[in-house]
Amino acid sequence: MSAAIEFDRVVKTFAKSGGGVQTVLDGVSFTIPRGKTTVIAGGSGQGKSVTLKLVLGLVRADSGRVLVHGRDITRAGGRELEEVRSQFGVLFQGSALFDSLTVFENVALPLRERTAKSEEEIRLLVAASLRQFELAGHEDKYPAQLSGGMQKRVGLARAMQLKPSIMLFDEPTTGLDPVMTREIYHLFARTQAEFGFTSVIVSHDIPKIFNLADQVIILHRGQMDVFSSPEAIQWSEKPHIREFVKMTMGDIYQSSVVEK
Ligand SMILES: Nc1ncnc2c1ncn2[C@@H]1O[C@H](COP(=O)(O)OP(=O)(O)O)[C@@H](O)[C@H]1O
Ligand SMILES: [Mg+2]
Repeated sequence: MSAAIEFDRVVKTFAKSGGGVQTVLDGVSFTIPRGKTTVIAGGSGQGKSVTLKLVLGLVRADSGRVLVHGRDITRAGGRELEEVRSQFGVLFQGSALFDSLTVFENVALPLRERTAKSEEEIRLLVAASLRQFELAGHEDKYPAQLSGGMQKRVGLARAMQLKPSIMLFDEPTTGLDPVMTREIYHLFARTQAEFGFTSVIVSHDIPKIFNLADQVIILHRGQMDVFSSPEAIQWSEKPHIREFVKMTMGDIYQSSVVEK
């Protein structure tokens, strides 16, 4: 059983405010392999965030099944859902840091809330993690005093505290310039290689980072197309995929190989 996440013919609709229904996912099936990086790309409003919410059990499928590490969570609730969610680390758009807490306090939060570790243990763990994400010396600053890239690194450090087996990133480079974007994706790739978690990155374009994705899923009008690599996408015959490639991928094939 090597799948971290599996969608089996998942349908998700919402009632439209003016009446009628909007079909966001129209019977999609895909597998997210364990210990690899999958990028889910698609235009704005195509259902990328809804897909992540289905994985976390924050939104329920109308039909079909969602499996996490082989366990069907489609109708799970209460304690079972809590247990499933505890396997995830999540980094949403905008980092979601607490403005009134320092860098140290933000990163320490999951350890304080979810574990019985002593303050001394927490201090050591947080310090190690801040060194790892090149944030040492910034522990007493508040989020507003940090650059966008540093805020993302604090968000990543916090999401990693409980050693998740699956990391979900929802448009994690929003608001960053292209240089910062590359740096953050390289950091994700290095962190993933070191810790071996399953990584799911949602993005409105295909990250122009060679070697980042082991698999790319393109979400368009309720359908998902699965590709084994960003390079494989260029061979698709489907018009909407060709259009997406033309609009967002640009010079990907000239991008240089990076070390993970
Ligand atoms: N709770 C909700 N109620 C009604 N419609 C929703 C809800 N959540 C999302 N939607 C709709 O579903 C579609 C996909 O949303 P979303 O997954 O957030 O898109 P994106 O790909 O930009 O992340 C959008 O049209 C959005 O308006
Ligand atoms: Mg979204």
